[in-house]
Amino acid sequence: MSAILVSSARTLLLLAFASTFVVMIIVGSSLFVNYPASECVPFRSLFNTEPTRRDETCVDPYKLPGYLYIPDNDSYRLTSYVPFYDSLYDASDPSFTTYPWPGKSSPDLSDPHPEPEFLKLAPHSWMTDLVVHAKLVDAAANGQDHDASRLERLDKYLDWMRNKRVLMIADSVDRYMMVYFCQELGHSATVEARHTTAWCTIPHLNFTIYHWHLAGYYNYRPNWWWQATMQQVTFEDRYEKMFKRTLGDVVGGNGRAPDLILYQSGLWDQVTFAQKYAQEPDGGEFSSMNEQNRHKDRQLTWAELRFYMTRQKQFIRHVKGVFGNDTRLVYRSLTPHQQLDERDLMIMNMDRASRIVAHKEGVEVMDWARLVTGFSGQYKDHVHVNKGPMSWLYQNMLLSYVFRLAGGVENLGAIEHHPMSYQSELDPWLECHDVYVAQAVDNR
Ligand SMILES: *[C@@H]1O[C@H](CO)[C@@H](O)[C@H](O)[C@H]1NC(C)=O
Ligand SMILES: *[C@@H]1O[C@H](CO)[C@@H](O)[C@H](O)[C@H]1NC(C)=O
Ligand SMILES: *[C@@H]1O[C@H](CO)[C@@H](O)[C@H](O)[C@H]1NC(C)=O
Repeated sequence: MSAILVSSARTLLLLAFASTFVVMIIVGSSLFVNYPASECVPFRSLFNTEPTRRDETCVDPYKLPGYLYIPDNDSYRLTSYVPFYDSLYDASDPSFTTYPWPGKSSPDLSDPHPEPEFLKLAPHSWMTDLVVHAKLVDAAANGQDHDASRLERLDKYLDWMRNKRVLMIADSVDRYMMVYFCQELGHSATVEARHTTAWCTIPHLNFTIYHWHLAGYYNYRPNWWWQATMQQVTFEDRYEKMFKRTLGDVVGGNGRAPDLILYQSGLWDQVTFAQKYAQEPDGGEFSSMNEQNRHKDRQLTWAELRFYMTRQKQFIRHVKGVFGNDTRLVYRSLTPHQQLDERDLMIMNMDRASRIVAHKEGVEVMDWARLVTGFSGQYKDHVHVNKGPMSWLYQNMLLSYVFRLAGGVENLGAIEHHPMSYQSELDPWLECHDVYVAQAVDNR
């Protein structure tokens, strides 16, 4: 209950400032009117003037050590990631840590809820605002009674999402996250056919997530391929025959590339590598394979690792060739199977390889897998993560990138700079980009 109060109080505070800001624009005030006004931090002072605050500002809360607070399944929309900032470490010792423990009963350690002062440092839940906004838009469209001024404030507050295009080049794990994103906001995704292209649009924001299904980095279509309907396997062929025709729909603000591209490939590769020596005909070219390689649940062979790493590099160069070398790319870290076992050794090999590729190719990492790993109960089957706390987390993580590329800056759970006041010739994405690319190799 306290969580609800904290979260909505913060939203209300921000909305109050949003309307203040609009008034200021009208009277022609400074271009760097900030938001919320009580924490007036001009974008320039965060990055471009001495002393720069880059070290404090370029901190992605989702990359910090922290605690994933999931109130319970029924209220998964309050799921928050609570980073461990200094204020937690320096907080006074909780009474239940007293030693020697007075009295006979043991200390009560049953409270599942972080104290509000730590919870309020969790990264902003954009999904919370978006759900409220979508309901108000819907009520207005249907002529129902609604809070029109709140709708107007939210329209402005969420304007940074307008006209944005996010492209996922990934497998069905991300496609489900896209489908759930639309469901949360009362819309349906369009999935043309399994393993092809799919998309989801939030019409009132002209915000679209597009999904290109990547079937791994394999370089040919083996005749033992187990998906008869999958005519194209390589990303080169899939691009030519399947993805290219959607270019008009995936291009966003700059007119030549999506505003953000999220990619990932691992589960298809893992199955391919695991199946290869079992499926290739006996007496064929791989008949001398030793027993160790025939074993499916194993690490990648060194050659497989080189294969995966190099093909991924080729994939990224291909994407850059299509959309430009300055395309904003984010690698989504690889989630293991629902039941973590030796199959996941390959997944870990591939995740580590993907991190070095990201680091070298100027790609940032959305480390969702780090937070999902171990939550077997949150999977819908052996590989797909279900709708609930983990999809909510995914959506908020993804939106934090869109907020940032539009000029938003969040620090210690507060909006330090809102994109609605962003006025600069600089590309806001680049302000912290190098820091995050350097961190791509961390954590694993
Ligand atoms: C929606 O966004 C796309 C991509 O940025 C843009 O090309 C298009 O003009 C926008 N549509 C409207 C109605 O603003
Ligand atoms: C993009 O980067 C690649 C690899 O560094 C380079 O060969 C290519 O010329 C670049 N393309 C453009 C248009 O700058
Ligand atoms: C939440 O849902 C998961 C998956 O259905 C289940 O395993 C878990 O026990 C549930 N937790 C609670 C507290 O209901």
